[in-house]
Amino acid sequence: TKTMTILGIESSCDDTAAALVRVGDKGAEVLSSVVAGQTDLHAAFGGVVPEIAARAHAEKLDLCVEQALTQANITLADIDAIGVTSGPGLIGGVVSGVMCAKGLSAATGKPLYGVNHLAGHALTPRLTDNVPYPYLMLLVSGGHCQFLLVSGPDNYKRIGGTIDDAPGEAFDKVARLIALPQPGGPAIEQAARAGDPKRFAFPRPLLDRPGSDMSFSGLKTAVLRQRDALVSAQGGLTKQDQSDLAAGFQSAVVDVLAEKTRRAFDHYPESANRSLCVAGGVASNSAIRTALETVSDQNEARFIAPPLALCTDNAAMIAYAAAEQAQHRPADDLTLSARPRWPL
Ligand code: KG4
Ligand code: ZN
Repeated sequence: TKTMTILGIESSCDDTAAALVRVGDKGAEVLSSVVAGQTDLHAAFGGVVPEIAARAHAEKLDLCVEQALTQANITLADIDAIGVTSGPGLIGGVVSGVMCAKGLSAATGKPLYGVNHLAGHALTPRLTDNVPYPYLMLLVSGGHCQFLLVSGPDNYKRIGGTIDDAPGEAFDKVARLIALPQPGGPAIEQAARAGDPKRFAFPRPLLDRPGSDMSFSGLKTAVLRQRDALVSAQGGLTKQDQSDLAAGFQSAVVDVLAEKTRRAFDHYPESANRSLCVAGGVASNSAIRTALETVSDQNEARFIAPPLALCTDNAAMIAYAAAEQAQHRPADDLTLSARPRWPL
């Protein structure tokens, strides 16, 4: 591989991000990675408001790109290509990012690559750990939940995924139900440390069905019923109740993810180097990580979890994906358009 320096741009959800990545013979290096969140803008609405997100992206993109260049101490003239998330995601945000990237490409003459956001997540273990193809990938975040067999930068086989909520969404909703703060994942993990996971018997949805599909919405309803029962019996929740509900819920999620991962290994082709990789915010949960490590050991696979900053939405993964794809396909031109729906 010839050494390439790529500018990455990401704006498909509620983070505006720009990054510079250098890819060469010795692997990849993140030169800078800037992420501007919008949590405060959406907090009052209980979820991401698409119009607010789009406007914030449009306002922040230029500054993020400028900061990424400054932090890497390079200029636009030094880059070899531009990678931008062109889907899937919220249309307004994706359009803002694509417009910004097209403008930079037109102004500098640098080639432009539209990248699938999910491909960015799925290729992250190659950016951080140089993991060889093929590998098994579990993508678990607030918006995604799927198993992929990744065999190349444009070769993904979906092995299973959620049929309703993503796990992060379930963590966030359950936290709201039992009066814990947002984001729910870290709050539940924290509360669960003091809880008894066996006090309440929560379901393990779809475990009785073959395959690696998952469901989390019934589990959330089960927590709701248990909460209501406690509230009507004693007038509210004690701190111990909160911890026990959190621990019971988390252990159900852990069991489902572990068992479905075990089954996903059935799809791994015969190969000497097996790896299980995770990405997405939920992958930062240490109970989940520990369970997945055990499943990896049982399947003689290496377990790889990228550092949290590269697990959650960022532009370094988009720059890296563009670099890999640039080895295999021509650049996009200025007709590149946003694809709000774009399965891998
Ligand atoms: O990948 P991510 O930052 O972005 C989106 O999907 O937008 O994932 C965010 C999700 C949230 O739902 C959050 O509650 C969850 O990841 N999360 C966790 C933990 N930390 C973040 N879930 C479980 N345990 C955690 N420690
Ligand atoms: Zn994402």
